Amino acid sequence: MQTDPAPAAVNIPPASTAERAAQLRAQLRHHAERYYVHDAPEIPDAEYDRLFQELQSIEADFPALRTADSPTLRVIGRVLEGFAPVRHAVPMLSIRTETDTTPGGAVAFDARVRRELELPDDAPAVAYEAELKFDGLAINLRYERGLLVQAATRGDGETGEDVTQNIRTVRGRHGAGGAIPLRLKGNAPALIEIRGEVFMRRDDFERMNERQREKGEKTFVNPRNAAAGAVRQLDPAIAAQRPLSFFAYGLGEVDGWQQPATHSATLDAIAAFGVPVCADRAVVQGAQGLVAFHAQMGARRDALPFDIDGVVYKVDSIALQQRLGFVTREPRWAVAHKYPAQEQMTRLNAIEIQVGRTGKLTPVAKLEPVFVGGTTVSNATLHNLFELRRKGVRVGDTVIVRRAGDVIPEVVGRVPGVRAAYVPNFRMPRECPVCASRVLREKGGVDHRCSGGLYCAAQRKQAILHFAGRRAMDIEGLGDKLVDQLVDGGLIHTLPDIYKLDVGQLAALDRMADKSARNIVEALEKSKRTTLARFLYALGIRQVGEATARDLARHFGALDRIMDADTEQLLEVPDVGPVVAQSIRTFFEQPHNREVIAQLRAWGIRWDEDGGKAPAAQQPLSGRTIVLTGTLPTLTRDAAKAMIEDAGGKVAGSVSKKTSFVVAGDEAGSKLEKARALGVRVIGEAELLAMLADLPRA
Ligand code: IVH
Repeated sequence: MQTDPAPAAVNIPPASTAERAAQLRAQLRHHAERYYVHDAPEIPDAEYDRLFQELQSIEADFPALRTADSPTLRVIGRVLEGFAPVRHAVPMLSIRTETDTTPGGAVAFDARVRRELELPDDAPAVAYEAELKFDGLAINLRYERGLLVQAATRGDGETGEDVTQNIRTVRGRHGAGGAIPLRLKGNAPALIEIRGEVFMRRDDFERMNERQREKGEKTFVNPRNAAAGAVRQLDPAIAAQRPLSFFAYGLGEVDGWQQPATHSATLDAIAAFGVPVCADRAVVQGAQGLVAFHAQMGARRDALPFDIDGVVYKVDSIALQQRLGFVTREPRWAVAHKYPAQEQMTRLNAIEIQVGRTGKLTPVAKLEPVFVGGTTVSNATLHNLFELRRKGVRVGDTVIVRRAGDVIPEVVGRVPGVRAAYVPNFRMPRECPVCASRVLREKGGVDHRCSGGLYCAAQRKQAILHFAGRRAMDIEGLGDKLVDQLVDGGLIHTLPDIYKLDVGQLAALDRMADKSARNIVEALEKSKRTTLARFLYALGIRQVGEATARDLARHFGALDRIMDADTEQLLEVPDVGPVVAQSIRTFFEQPHNREVIAQLRAWGIRWDEDGGKAPAAQQPLSGRTIVLTGTLPTLTRDAAKAMIEDAGGKVAGSVSKKTSFVVAGDEAGSKLEKARALGVRVIGEAELLAMLADLPRA
């Protein structure tokens, strides 16, 4: 029988493999520099890990290819110019990463620990402290006699950067902890270095990016980069504006303090010093305990307020940790067990426009499906035109997609590379892809919007709900569940269709009895008799709230006059500025919107028009300023306010000499006292209702 030739005793690497190893080394060095030194990676961590593992596996097969400066042998990172170097008395090590994201990763770690401790098979389970692996930046906090004297980054593990100024501003989140104390609580040791991670909470990150987007400024790729960038920001004033948090996970140099016998008790002691320690940690027994923790935290990952990229297992006993020791700068007693990455690379196949319920146009990336953050993602938001341009993404590019928590997936950037062919830059459509109305952008704003508010199918549900609202046409019973059914079931296509509905159609719907169907038809009928102000407000014109609608109605007195008013005439209305005037003009310029209004009038919607004379004088509360306080027996605060305003009155938030009267209910507090002190008249709900009793519905 023919056998394969025996393998050579020494593996001679083929030239192509040597070349690949050199290429990988160069790539890894470049990407490590982008990540650790500039806080601006070009590829996702998962891609870096893949390159790293490829090099590791080549080096394992061909040890001759492992150069002394191979990235696989070093803690990467260096001191950025501008920060003073800090030599760590106890080196800041990293931990081995178990990239097998299945429970197998935890089982393998426990087996390794037991083998290295030479435990017999029947020895009891090893106790581990299981923690979260926070995705931020490692920091060493040095406290002397309880005072924070220095904070340093990890740097290359031996030497880090002095970032004390910036770290002093880590305030955490009120009520959620995470603040770095400037002074330790209790009986502080002569010297204690506390190590942990500075990170940014997801909501803080989203809010910060949203602010940046609104200002049309650069956004951050992910919370980790935002946090790392803030810590290494040369201007502490800027760093102070970035919302950072901190969790401790270990110790550095210590003097004059007896460390507890376990890692878990050490963390308890650190917490007692007033330094934040994450509550999501547990002492667990053996492989089973690790697997359970990994699964439990994996299930909660999306709901956590911050990003984690895995969990960390540490042998709990310090004595056992010492027996296990280190290999090439990684402790044998700890491992990081990863979860599926929250960022991946994929191809951008197309950019489509989505029209939201409020008419906002969002460019959406159509992606080559990719598994990221635990699910397959094929659509991701690009936010707005300006974000898209700043990121420089074009169709055909390889892009980085991020999906973390329940935040919608987004394209955070493109992977640098040469495009094979010219691809034109993306443009916003001039017409709404749903209804063909004009697309507009408010001056100075970043969002594009469809101007076909009443007509556009994408905005239909929102428009109907707003139209039917209590302060608008007040159609009782026409809530979101019903609107969903009506629109999705094809019973109404445009807003005026709601007046076509009959009892039979409504009663056939889910959770609709004959009686409720009849009530709705009655409410629809009743709503037809309204006021110009309510009708105007009901149209949902951007920038036109209740107060503006009332001002417009009072000023013009008739709808046609408002529809035909030019900007100058609109500007004559009190409180109407150029942005509001423009918005009103644009709305009525759309033929579709005019069509909808004509149809509504044809259905019998009517109000009194008064030829433009201000009706204010005839209203009983006109010119009166009223303050509401306490809980009224039957009216909600909103209802009372609406009634007063409909009667021409104004509702103010605080009592002054100008207040006409105060309506007080139960548990009225300081406003009532103030009214009494100023001699302002105080009445109850009954008296208010009596004042309004003979009024026609305004
Ligand atoms: S322990 C000797 N615990 O992950 C052990 N590290 O390489 C030192 N990290 O850069 C690290 N969460 O910044 C430890 N609960 C945790 C951690 C954690 C995040 C980071 C750490 C380090 C990297 C590990």
